[in-house]
Amino acid sequence: MELKSYLKTQKTNIDGFLRDYLSPLDIPPRLKEAMQYSLGAGGKRLRPVLVLAAHDAVGGKSRAAVAVGAAIEMIHTYSLIHDDLPAMDNDDFRRGKPTCHRVFGEAMAILAGDGLLTQAFEILSDPSHMEEVPAEVCVRVVGEVARGAGSTGMVGGQVLDMISEGSDIDAAALQNMHLRKTGALIRASVAAGALLGGADDEGLEALRGYGTKIGLAFQVADDILDVTRTEEELGKSTSDVARGKRTYPSLYGLEGARAMAETLVTEALKSLKGFDGGATPLREIARYIITRAH
Ligand code: IPE
Ligand code: IPE
Ligand code: MG
Ligand code: MG
Ligand code: MG
Repeated sequence: MELKSYLKTQKTNIDGFLRDYLSPLDIPPRLKEAMQYSLGAGGKRLRPVLVLAAHDAVGGKSRAAVAVGAAIEMIHTYSLIHDDLPAMDNDDFRRGKPTCHRVFGEAMAILAGDGLLTQAFEILSDPSHMEEVPAEVCVRVVGEVARGAGSTGMVGGQVLDMISEGSDIDAAALQNMHLRKTGALIRASVAAGALLGGADDEGLEALRGYGTKIGLAFQVADDILDVTRTEEELGKSTSDVARGKRTYPSLYGLEGARAMAETLVTEALKSLKGFDGGATPLREIARYIITRAH
């Protein structure tokens, strides 16, 4: 299978949903514009692709997988808008464009983020999008996504990131921070796709293991890219060194960080041992996560 064409097809489906979803809603125009600005600015759409790939890995047939992926992408986009705010990473450039607060002001950027986060749960609880998904599965998906995004997951990880700026942290604290700030939503994406696809308990656990490993590997790779690529190549500001961020390269050096990312991917692939060819996209995505150029 050609990963590039798989990613492209899935990305087109997700982009189509995202483009059509907000337009008809009765949202104050400036707020809608800010939400659409960040959502439509691009992005790899990795998390929704993971929802779809995990769903495929368990032989799922649910038509709601695109909607669930789009909801998670809204949460991810909110996290980027807030991550870039002056009170957080204070960055000016994101997805190849000036950051949301640079264009719309801080208050509107905060509210655009709040709007996207809440909108996601509206999608996940909307029967017209969660068509034919049993109510029990819907509730489990909502719980999975809420835990990934919330205070014990991404939001908690962002706090650990903030308080560790400029201070020494050990390997365990760094891993805990990365597992939460980035890993938690990535794992939730995989788990949500698996649940929708009808995974049994064993399959779900194996896929959660995969999600945990690639989620961590994703942030290790992000840390590496921050110090090895230009802002133009990445389409976003690179400010880890200037802000005294604790990252994998800052603790282990570039080569050490690369080796750790490699090990994590090997472990992620081991979690997929019991899966057949349906898991090929997940296998290829694991490798892509650490070889990507942006
Ligand atoms: C960036 O995520 C923030 C991290 C969690 C490292 P992505 O690299 O997935 O950003 P987009 O969605 O492609 O812009
Ligand atoms: C952000 O990590 C993780 C989020 C939850 C948004 P970073 O601060 O490293 O993400 P980038 O490098 O700005 O995309
Ligand atoms: Mg940050
Ligand atoms: Mg940042
Ligand atoms: Mg980064």
